[in-house]
Amino acid sequence: MPTKGIQLDANGKLLHFLSIEGLNQQILTEILDTAESFTSVTDRTIKKVPILRGKTVANLFFEASTRTRSTFELAAQRLSADILSLDMSTSATAKGETMLDTIRNLEAMQIDMFIIRHQDSGSAHFFAQHVRPGVSVLNAGDGQHEHPTQAMLDMYTIRHYKQDFTNLRVAIVGDIMHSRVARSQIHALNLLNTAEIRVIAPSTLLPVDTESLGVQVYDNLEQGLLDIDVVIMLRLQKERMRGALLPSEKEYFNLFGLTQERLRRAKPDAIVMHPGPANRGVEIESSVMDGNQSVILQQVSFGISVRMAVMSMIVGQSGLQAKA
Ligand code: CP
Repeated sequence: MPTKGIQLDANGKLLHFLSIEGLNQQILTEILDTAESFTSVTDRTIKKVPILRGKTVANLFFEASTRTRSTFELAAQRLSADILSLDMSTSATAKGETMLDTIRNLEAMQIDMFIIRHQDSGSAHFFAQHVRPGVSVLNAGDGQHEHPTQAMLDMYTIRHYKQDFTNLRVAIVGDIMHSRVARSQIHALNLLNTAEIRVIAPSTLLPVDTESLGVQVYDNLEQGLLDIDVVIMLRLQKERMRGALLPSEKEYFNLFGLTQERLRRAKPDAIVMHPGPANRGVEIESSVMDGNQSVILQQVSFGISVRMAVMSMIVGQSGLQAKA
């Protein structure tokens, strides 16, 4: 999906945030640094800065969401934007209006930024091509393609706990084939020069060209977890599976579920991550999810600062201004 020319202007400034593919290490690092400057804002009694004062942000979620939708909304509020959150299942698209007509009508209400989650891969890119100049689109997850702000909050979490990507072994475990999160994470980990990226999955849940993404493939969880610093678990994306790709969830847990015993194969200080929603007893044992190596809820908290960072960079403000 050729998003590079749309996402950045001639000076390399963010216009839209559609995919990690097409970005560069400098932008990713600027997002992480800017997000860090916003953590002090989220710790204040009055959690607001005026960076988006006078701007209007519309949250358009055509698919279910808990974390992404709420943290984008909080991030926009903390930047002092006006925020409009539409439940697309009750919007006029449910009466046959095209998505483009919905966008045109919202543009007529002077929306400055659209945050869009949609079941179709490429939808965020499509919207970005059709909005008026000066209006931005942020991808909150498009089909199986990308979920770039999720990947950035994951990179923030890894940097927070492990500092340097260049000596890290990171494992992504589970349904790689249907995961927009995995795709964005792999691009981001490569751009940040991660020493080794492993994907661990049954062959039925791997895209055909997985190795070409710059990862090492394992079909055995015990082997794949050996000496790992960061374990990222993924859920089975059943809503995107066509046909039976697995015998049963029980069988899947028996072979690919992260248990305390299996986690001992990783380094003793390994962190366990999950973008959510997690299915206890399917891809992860409850005691691991709630255990002291799990940073799953911290990921959610960091999501607010990271989304504040992306929105503020789009309007031309970066970390240093945010700190002031
Ligand atoms: N990680 C993630 O996208 O979660 P939600 O579906 O709850 O937004």
